[in-house]
Amino acid sequence: MTLLLVLTASAQKSHEISIIAKKPITDIQPTMWGVFFEDINFAADGGLYAELVKNRSFEFSLPMMGWKQISEKGEGRVMASFYSPANTGNPHFLTLVVNAPEGVFGLSNEGFRGMGIKKDMKYNFSVSLRTSAATIIKTKIELKNSKGDIIGGAELPPLSNEWKKYQVSFKATQTEAKANLRILFTGKGTVDMDMVSLFPSDTWKDRPYGMRKDLVQLLADLKPGFIRFPGGCIVEGRDLTNRYQWKTTVGPAEDRKLIMNRWNVEMQNHLTPDYFQTFGLGFFEYFQLAEDLGAEPLPILNCGMSCQFNAGEVVPLNELDPYIQDALDLIEFANGDVTTKWGKLRASMGHPATFNLKFLGVGNEQWEEQYIDRYKLFEKVLKSKHPEIKIVSGAGPSSDGKYFDLAWSELKKLSPDLIDEHYYKEPGWFFKNASRYDDYDRKGIKVFAGEYAAHGQEAEESESRNTWLSALAEAAFMTGLERNADVVNMASYAPLFAHVEAWQWRPDLIWFDNLTSIGTPNYYVQKVFSNYKGTQVIPALYQGKALEGQDSIYSSSVIDKNTGKVYVKIVNISPESKPVVLNLQGLSFGKECTIETLTSKSLKDFNSISNPKIIYPVSKQVELKGKKFNFTLDPISVNVIILSFKK
Ligand code: AHR
Repeated sequence: MTLLLVLTASAQKSHEISIIAKKPITDIQPTMWGVFFEDINFAADGGLYAELVKNRSFEFSLPMMGWKQISEKGEGRVMASFYSPANTGNPHFLTLVVNAPEGVFGLSNEGFRGMGIKKDMKYNFSVSLRTSAATIIKTKIELKNSKGDIIGGAELPPLSNEWKKYQVSFKATQTEAKANLRILFTGKGTVDMDMVSLFPSDTWKDRPYGMRKDLVQLLADLKPGFIRFPGGCIVEGRDLTNRYQWKTTVGPAEDRKLIMNRWNVEMQNHLTPDYFQTFGLGFFEYFQLAEDLGAEPLPILNCGMSCQFNAGEVVPLNELDPYIQDALDLIEFANGDVTTKWGKLRASMGHPATFNLKFLGVGNEQWEEQYIDRYKLFEKVLKSKHPEIKIVSGAGPSSDGKYFDLAWSELKKLSPDLIDEHYYKEPGWFFKNASRYDDYDRKGIKVFAGEYAAHGQEAEESESRNTWLSALAEAAFMTGLERNADVVNMASYAPLFAHVEAWQWRPDLIWFDNLTSIGTPNYYVQKVFSNYKGTQVIPALYQGKALEGQDSIYSSSVIDKNTGKVYVKIVNISPESKPVVLNLQGLSFGKECTIETLTSKSLKDFNSISNPKIIYPVSKQVELKGKKFNFTLDPISVNVIILSFKK
C-alpha cells in the first residue's frame, strides 16, 4: 500500500495539522532514542557474541552439555577434571583417554541450536590442549553439515606435554544452519582439552572473538543515542551470587568466570537448561560497542539486591560498600587515566583512550523502601565523588501503583538525574497513554522510559507476537514521548534480541536464527523515531491541540537545526484512510518532501525470518506547492514526512 497523494486544495473532511516550525517547544536530548541490551533469548552467547561453540570451557553444571563422544574405529573415555587447569577462572577441563591407533576418538559440539556456517567464509578455530603421552599422532578438526558431510576442517600440529593454545583457520565449503564441530584424535594416550572456540572471520569490524556483524548492523542502522546494558533482571540475579558483576567480565576471556544465565530457569514454559553466561561479551565489549554505535554507554549496576520476583535477597546497609566500590571502580575503568588501576586494565585490553562514561544506573527493577535505602547510599558517594556522572534510578516493574508511587515520591526528595520507568502492557494502554507525560513536572527529575513494549496476541511462530498492532500502538505512544522530550530524555524498547529457537520472552525487537536476522515492525517504528530524531520539538496542532488520538490520529513534529529538516510523524490507527492537510508555518520549505510509510493489511501481520518485509518502510517523493499540502494517510499506518527548509 502507498500513500494516496492529493495535490489539490484541502478536501472537506481533512484534518488540518499546523506545523509551527518557528516555535520550538523544547530541545531533544541526543540520548532520546536508544537501545536496551540484555542477555535474554540467547542475545549474547548464541547471538551477538559470535562464538559458535557452546560450553567451550566445560563449566556448565553438566560439563558434557552440548558435547558428544565420537568413536570411529577407535574407543576412549572422557572425564571432567579441574586439577592443574589451563586457567584458574574457569578451571574445569576434559580429559580424553584415547585408544584409536587406526581410527578416531573425540568429541563433537552441537553449537547453539546448531552452528550457522557460511560457504567460503574463513573460520578461526582455537583450543587449549595438553597430552601426557606423545602417542597422539593426529588431531583434526571437522565441520559437518546436518546430513553428515564434511564442510570444512584442518589438522593441528603435534601436541605438547604442557597446556598450549592451538589455532588454525579454514574455509567452509557450504552454507549450513545446523553444522556441528568435531575434534578427533588418532593414536593412543591422554589428552586434556579446554577453551574450544570457533569464530567466523566476518565479525563486526573484523575483530577477533568479536560480535555477529548482521546483528550489530541492525543496531547501527537504528542510530541509537545510548545503549543500556547488561540488563534487566540479569543485573539483579535470581540470588546475589548469580548477580552480574562487571569485574568478572573484563580481562582475558578465558579467565571470565562463567555463571548460569538467570533466564535458564526463569520461564517455566520456556526452560533453557543450556543457557549460561561466558561473558565473552563483557563490559569492555559493551563500552566498545557503544563507541562504535556513537551511543552513550549506560551501564546498570546491582544495588545490593537480587531480583524481588525471585530470592529477593538484600545486602545489609552496613555491608554495601563493596557494591558502591564496584560503581566507583567502573567509572575508573571507563574514564580513568591509564595510570589508574582500572584505567590500566582498560588500556591493556586495547583501549587506552577513555570511554567517556556519562550515565550510570543504580539497580534495575527494585521496589519498596529497601531500594530507596540502598539507592541513597550509592547516590551520596557518587554525587560527591563523581558529580559529572548522571545517575539513573528506578521506579520498579510497573507503570503505576503503590511501588511506582513510592519510588517517585521518595526519589523526588533525592537527586537522581533520571528515573527509569518500565511498562509491558497491552496495545490499548499505549494508545491511551500517548498523553502520559503531558502532566509531568517540567522542572522535575527526567524520565528514562527504559523498558517498554506492547504485548498482544501470540501465535505459534516465534516472531508472531511482534504484530503490526503492537508496533502501531508503540508508534502512537512514542509521539507522546517525543512531544514531551523536555521530560523524557531517554527511551528504549525491550527486550532487544531473540533467537527463534531459544527465546524465553516475546515480543522482542530483533529476531535471528543461526544465519540471518530481521527487524520486527516494532524495529522499524523505533527506526523512524531514532533516525528522524531532530534537535527540537515543534508544535503539531489540530484545532489548537496536540494530536493524541483525536479521530484515531497521533502526531508529533521536530526540527533538526543542524541538517535543515523538519520531521512530522503521523500515526493513523483507524482502519479507514484519512485525508490530512499539513499547514507549514514559519519557514521556507523546499519544493519536495519525502513521505516514509509503514503499514500492513492486517493488524495481526508480523515479519518473520522466512518473510521479513511484510512491514517495511516505503518512501516516496512528493511535490510541495505552497504552504499547505494535502495527502491521505493509509489505514493503520505510521508516517514520517521529511521536509527540507532553507537554513
Ligand atoms: O526485558 C525483560 C525483563 O523485563 C527485564 O529483565 C526486566 O528488567 C523486566 O522485568
